This record gives sequence, structure tokens and C-alpha cells, in this order.
Amino acid sequence: TQPLKIALAGLGTVGAGVIKLLGENAALIERRAGRPIEIIAVSARDRTRDRGVDLSRFAWVDDAGELSHRDDVDAVVELIGGSDGPALTIARAALTNGKAFVTANKAMIAHHGLELAATAEKTGAALKYEAAVAGGIPVIKGLREGAAANEIGHVYGILNGTCNYILTAMEEAGRDFADVLAEAQALGYAEADPSFDIDGVDAAHKLSILASLAFGTTIDFDAVAITGIRHIIAADIAEAAALGFRVRLVGFGEAGPKGLFQRVHPCLVPIGHPLAHVVGSLNAVVAEGNYVGRLIFQGRGAGEGPTASAVVADLVDIARGEYGPAFAMPVASLARLAPAPAGER
Ligand code: HSE
Repeated sequence: TQPLKIALAGLGTVGAGVIKLLGENAALIERRAGRPIEIIAVSARDRTRDRGVDLSRFAWVDDAGELSHRDDVDAVVELIGGSDGPALTIARAALTNGKAFVTANKAMIAHHGLELAATAEKTGAALKYEAAVAGGIPVIKGLREGAAANEIGHVYGILNGTCNYILTAMEEAGRDFADVLAEAQALGYAEADPSFDIDGVDAAHKLSILASLAFGTTIDFDAVAITGIRHIIAADIAEAAALGFRVRLVGFGEAGPKGLFQRVHPCLVPIGHPLAHVVGSLNAVVAEGNYVGRLIFQGRGAGEGPTASAVVADLVDIARGEYGPAFAMPVASLARLAPAPAGER
């Protein structure tokens, strides 16, 4: 059987993780995928940096844009990040050329996902982005496939590992916001620009994707109301605890008669609610379906291993030839729901 030949653009935390995972678990991945999954070419900004992985077996390509044009590449994995720029160029070219495209880039999917999905539909290519939302938790699959038969009224959750790490560390007396943020960065959880994490933008990217999957609507990132955690101080958290609450950054989406509500902001979560027990870099997503009832997805939402795990799971699907539309249904069939008027709730 022919291996699935992949090209990797971006060799940061997640890129290195994908190389390690495909190497260490090669035998079991081949059994599950029905054929080997082989990296053949890689590209990153800095060739010399030690990433703790052996790159000598792969072709090094200086211009990542070339990866989408190589005849020997079946699937392009984009782990560069950024909603526009090289990531988008690579995505458009790969899908136009009929190559499978896998990404962890939530900003790009939130802004350009529908355009990319439309291109994928035209050429018959796979567009997969499990790693873009909630790291290692298979929540894209869960909502797109697992809850496909349900009407989902609302979806909400803890969608940013960095913020959750900071908020839960601040629950321990005396931890300082800046110190804990530096720790989250060192652990590889934070975005290249950590203001995307702490100002709620990253969670909003993910929420807009989840809302689209849950409600079968077009993605509308611009309509998300966003407040981050920058202004939360230790005293807020202590006060909340005294009243029986924990502070969590929650993304919430609801599709109702008044339109689509999407918001991200710090919430007081009652201690008895499952989200109050989501700690550290964990994420959780809750969805309520009219036949399945409440679904709770929980797991590690950031970092090398979990995110690489989701990327490789997408590659396994592609190797098996198992993929459908990128979102809940083909792009032309997605409903356009107007944003609910502000102040309605
Ligand atoms: N910076 C993101 C987070 C990484 O902290 O959740 C995973 O998307």
C-alpha cells in the first residue's frame, strides 16, 4: 500500500510534537490508518534551532509556500499560525491543488474557514482542523459527527488553556499574574502573541468554530462579544471562592429565535458545576442535544502532546479516505443566522 506522504509547515512546539508522535507510534498508526503516514518535507523559519527531533530524513524547503505545489506531497500540515500571511497562502494552494490540508490554526479557520471549505469541496480535498479547538479533545469530530443527528441549542466551555492555567494558579494564594503567564509560555501553551490568550481572542476564534459546528451556521467571528482576563486580580478570585464560585474564562454560544449569541468573558462558575473542576491547561466543552442530552468533552486543551495527537488523528482519517465536509454540512447549506441584538440577555 502507498504511504500517505505529508509535508509539514512550521516546526514550533506542535510541529516537533507531530514528528515525535508519528515516529514513536508509527507501527500502531500504520495499523489503524491502513498504510504508513510519512513526513517527506518540512519547512520552518530557522533551520538550525535544536527542536529535539531528527530532521535529517526529511527534505528541507526554505519557502513553505512550495510545499503545497510538490507533486510528491499528498497532505500539507500547517502549524505556522496567524490568520493570514503564509499560513493562508499555503492553505489556499494546497486545497486548490487537491491536496489534503490539516491545520491547528484556529485564527485562520475562524476568519477564512468557509472560503477554504468551499475550495476543498470544489477540488474534493480534505480540510481538517481538529487541533484548532480544545487541543487534544476530539470536539470537532464530537460535534460534527457524534452529535450530527441532534438539534443543539447551546454550546459553551473553557476554550483557552493559558487562561485556565493562569486562573487556576491564581487560586493558589500569592501567585502573580505575570509569573504564571511566563510559566504558561514556557510550557508551550500560549500563543506567539499571548495577548490573544489573555484578551479572549483565541477563545473567541474557537467559540465561533464550535458555534458553526453545533448550530450548522456560517462562522461569524466578528459577532463574538469578547472580554479577557487581564483585569482579574487575586482578590476577585478569593472573593468568588468565599461565595462558592470559581472564576473561569467561558465561551458561550446559543442559537435562538433572536439570532446567534456568541460571547467570551470571565464567569463566576458555581462550585458544583463541572466547569469549576476544569483546572490547569485542561479545556472542556459542553453541548446540549435534543436527543443525546448533555455532552461534556474534557481533556488537555494546549501543549505539544495533546495538539499533536489531534493533528495526527486527522491524518489517520485522511489516510483511510474518511472525511466529509469540513463543517456541519456543505458550505452552501450552512444557515446564516444574524447576530442577536446586544443587550438581549
Ligand atoms: N494558546 C492556546 C491555549 C493554545 O492556551 O489554549 C491551544 O489552542
